[in-house]
Amino acid sequence: MSNNAAKNLFIYGSLLCFVVLIILTVDTMGTLKDRAPEITEKVDLGKQVWHKYDCIGCHTIFGNGSYFAPDMTKVTERKPLDYLKKFIMNPRAVKPGTAMPVLGISAEEADNLIAFLVWTSKVDTNGWPPKPILALGGNKKESAGEALFRKNDCAACHQINGMGGTAGPDLTHVGSKRPDINWHMRHLKNPQSVVPDSAMPPFEDLTEDELADLAGYLIEFK
Ligand code: HEC
Ligand code: HEC
Repeated sequence: MSNNAAKNLFIYGSLLCFVVLIILTVDTMGTLKDRAPEITEKVDLGKQVWHKYDCIGCHTIFGNGSYFAPDMTKVTERKPLDYLKKFIMNPRAVKPGTAMPVLGISAEEADNLIAFLVWTSKVDTNGWPPKPILALGGNKKESAGEALFRKNDCAACHQINGMGGTAGPDLTHVGSKRPDINWHMRHLKNPQSVVPDSAMPPFEDLTEDELADLAGYLIEFK
């Protein structure tokens, strides 16, 4: 290749790449506004609370922060809002022995924080963070109780054999601890009827049959 040809290749190649860069940038900017809901004043205040208590010192959000505690980007999809409020204001009351400290957050601050976390949940992050794999062994036949456990996402809060969330007690041996099927049926329908101040959400929509299947599944965990 002559010097001249090399020079032209360099100049026109660079120009072409630059034009492609501009087109892609304009395209991205055009779609950005559809990828996040509007930022209200409450969301803004909530973000300030997030900074005030340095939540990011322990938690990740949008891929930034520390790996000491669970990711917060989509937390409102995993947990009911009233549970989150109780937890944020007083984690120890919801989960004795938890490593999250009581930070002294007021009810108003908690409401704003939750508005912020609802907003982050709605931001289109292209599937980030990846969901934990809660169910393995997909081709083995499921019992009715096991299917209900999966459908109602109980593993978001409970571990069985090391798999699942940690907001509620580990259920690996719950059948030995609580062998009474009727206790479980009452607890699932309305946790506070048997555990005062329970932070577990009620599963009121389950039919008696479903309650029995799910409770029967739980008492097998010896
Ligand atoms: C000193 C570290 C630390 C700080 C600071 C901290 N957290 Fe946590 N947080 C934790 C840990 C550890 C857990 C996991 C608790 C567990 O499962 O026992 C947690 C759990 C949570 C959960 C429950 C998550 C789930 O999936 O159940 C929420 C919600 C939460 N934190 C919100 C916050 C917010 C909001 C802030 C700031 C106001 C904050 N945290 C500050 C350590 C911290
Ligand atoms: C948002 C979190 C959350 C979800 C979702 C959840 N639980 Fe719970 N669960 C808790 C908490 C917190 C407790 C402790 C308080 C209590 O016993 O009610 C608990 C307690 C329990 C207990 C009693 C364990 C013991 O050692 O005494 C059982 C059994 C149980 N849950 C089963 C389930 C099942 C089955 C589902 C799904 C249908 C489910 N939970 C969904 C938070 C949750």
